[in-house]
Amino acid sequence: MWAESHLREVTSMQQREPTERPPGPRGLPWLGKALSYARDPVAFAGSMINGHKPIGHIRSCGWSFYFLSTPDAVEEGFIGKARKSIKAPFLRGIDEVLGAGLLVAEGDAWRKQRKLVQHAFMPEQVLSWLPVMSRRCDVVLEGWDVTAPIAIDQAMMSLTLDIMSHSILGADLRLAHGSIKDAVDEIAKFFEFVVTPHGFLLRKFPTPARSRFLRSARVLDELIYRLIEASLTAAEPQPSLLTRLAHAWRDADGDFERKLLRDDLLTIFLAGHETTALTLTYALNLLAQHPEIQVRAAAETAGVDVVDYALFSDAAKLPLVRAIIRETLRLYPPAWIFAREITGDDTLLGYSLPKGSVIVTSPWWIHRQQEVFPEPDSFKPDRWSGGLVERLSPGTYLPFGIGPRRCVGQLFAEAELVVALVGLLKRFGFQKTTDALPRLQPAITIRPRHPVLLRVVRNDGLNRI
Ligand code: HEM
Repeated sequence: MWAESHLREVTSMQQREPTERPPGPRGLPWLGKALSYARDPVAFAGSMINGHKPIGHIRSCGWSFYFLSTPDAVEEGFIGKARKSIKAPFLRGIDEVLGAGLLVAEGDAWRKQRKLVQHAFMPEQVLSWLPVMSRRCDVVLEGWDVTAPIAIDQAMMSLTLDIMSHSILGADLRLAHGSIKDAVDEIAKFFEFVVTPHGFLLRKFPTPARSRFLRSARVLDELIYRLIEASLTAAEPQPSLLTRLAHAWRDADGDFERKLLRDDLLTIFLAGHETTALTLTYALNLLAQHPEIQVRAAAETAGVDVVDYALFSDAAKLPLVRAIIRETLRLYPPAWIFAREITGDDTLLGYSLPKGSVIVTSPWWIHRQQEVFPEPDSFKPDRWSGGLVERLSPGTYLPFGIGPRRCVGQLFAEAELVVALVGLLKRFGFQKTTDALPRLQPAITIRPRHPVLLRVVRNDGLNRI
């Protein structure tokens, strides 16, 4: 069925003159569908993706958006056009805090940074952080007070903040957690506004939110610069990513700019801490809704030592824990939408694609395609047994993105998620406090709008989920 519709898609592409626009709604003059997007971004993306396959078009606030909705279309857009596209204009709006860091850099500057950062995230380097990840998990989780329900989203932010501080920055920042968390929250709130088409146009206005954002960026700035200097001058620096990157920059470029190292570290810190915290939050919430799966997962973790490198080289180990992570990232991909701007006139799937057009896709909706994932809205980790992940093409399952700009921290994230989930399930059982699913706030990432409260019980050898 899928092959048939693909054949129809290709045939109709070949018959079309590359001058037409793909189908799509029109909306209001100039604004297009900006108001529908602002009201409910996820539903709007869903209407574009599910309503116009393989490609839908909308003009809004001066931009032409092309929504890509089948795996082939996504691969053609994000891999095929990778050399002819740059990050979307709205994401570029966050360069005020990320500077020229990896997430927003382009061209040769991006290639140089990507090579250095990718090297620092090689598998053996990531494995060398397992002991520190595991130790930090022990310290943080041992301190939990479980006498009342826990806001699991905030608890996961603290956990990943702690793990990232030690492994990425090589520092114990527990005393500064409060101010870092406030700064990250303010920055995230401002990004929520900036990444919409209308917000992007208004981002330089001197609003109170903008002043709070700039103040928060300064807090993180001071911290990172202090840590960079400490790492470069220490006789025995911590074996952190910061140290590795600082030395790699110095070797590659004797008089490297501190500012660029700061930009990359802050990018990695911000890109890595919230995404992993959200994945853990959604995973625990799903497990609390599905106690039978939680009991099986807890049994799988009993007696497991996460500082066992074989866990990560042997895909047969911890199959259910891995499947839970994959299924969570399928249903709740934290980076739920991403986009590129096309840098020269082109064509895509037989349609014209003028310079400045923005191609968009949404893993949230791509991951809910019935043909690939039967019962797409159900949490079914067992669907991942039998080698499903190897059979999927890059445009079918893309929680870590697609093409040359895909997530550089994927291995780190996967290791951290396994270590944390094993640590959590070994110690605790998680029970829901409500049947309602969390209401979500989509921006660059999709986060819960309100605290996700779970009752937490200590495992005492018996499973008390
Ligand atoms: C579950 C966790 C994570 C998810 C779902 C995730 C997802 C993504 C996605 C979808 C992109 C590509 C965005 C685009 O194409 O526009 C990306 C890029 C990136 N991610 Fe992650 N990420 C995760 C964790 C991490 C971690 C732990 C780090 C670092 C420690 C990290 C660092 C980055 C960086 C630096 C980029 C930019 C890469 C480039 O443009 O070359 N991410 N991530």
